[in-house]
Amino acid sequence: MSSATTAFGPGKVILLGEHGVVYGHPALAGPISRGVLASGTPASACRLALPPKVTPAVGAQLTRAFDRVAKLAGRPKIEVSLETDLPTSMGLGSSGAMAVAVARLLLQARGTVVKQRELEALALEMEKEFHGTPSGVDHTTSARNELVLFQRGRATVLKSSKPLKVLIALAGARGSTKATVAELRARQARWPTRYRRIFNEIGAVVRDGASAVRAGDLEALGDAMNVNQGLLSALRLSSAPIDAMVHRLRAAGALGAKLTGAGGDGGAVIGLFPEPEPTVVRLRKEGITCFTSQLSGPRAL
Ligand code: MEV
Repeated sequence: MSSATTAFGPGKVILLGEHGVVYGHPALAGPISRGVLASGTPASACRLALPPKVTPAVGAQLTRAFDRVAKLAGRPKIEVSLETDLPTSMGLGSSGAMAVAVARLLLQARGTVVKQRELEALALEMEKEFHGTPSGVDHTTSARNELVLFQRGRATVLKSSKPLKVLIALAGARGSTKATVAELRARQARWPTRYRRIFNEIGAVVRDGASAVRAGDLEALGDAMNVNQGLLSALRLSSAPIDAMVHRLRAAGALGAKLTGAGGDGGAVIGLFPEPEPTVVRLRKEGITCFTSQLSGPRAL
């Protein structure tokens, strides 16, 4: 490779179905405009330039994850550096986005056409370093870069006839996805029958939401999001900061609002709005960190 190249991995939001997806139920997820950019420059060996200010523990984890995927990609001789405009540890898929950006860059560096299946397989290897046993929804959504209905490792692209726009607001710090998933697994193992009923209902709400997207019925999709938030609350995945933000977005006119990603003490909350831009301006004035993204559907000129 003679000059610098780049590859982008978008972050994601889960519109419906987080956690249920770990147990084989479907989830509806879409890519957002923010993500991770990986840049490669020719070097004597394949290596990762660690971002400044990472702690030794995070640095070691990043290096292990990078080595895992570099080996599979044949260790092209480039130094990879990373930039991101995605809030990290907020449920917006930053590790999946990084995995896709790095895997795509390393595969590009081989000089052959990047095959989607190989890209997703390599990105999954990197994700495993961060999440243990991820469902795969994060890196698959990032790699496809389209709204998808994801279940058991398979993704079907979903087209929306209407612009599908969300407002993404941050509701404070949260713990790791790995820990939240493990705690839920312990509760589910203790009370399997009750939890199975809730997961089945989440799966049904996701299928309703997918039908609403196909029909261009944003109000029905919003209602599915509200019901999904209630079910996530029943699973003890919501908290006071998340609940407050959900109610704030609904009061601001959201057709539906819910946590997105793993949830827990805080993290990202999404609101479905036909036109979220004026609400972003207003909420920012009130001190809330938020932005918008269009997940699918026709874009205005
Ligand atoms: C994390 O973005 C989504 C979870 O369902 C975990 C997973 O799917 O691996 C909480």
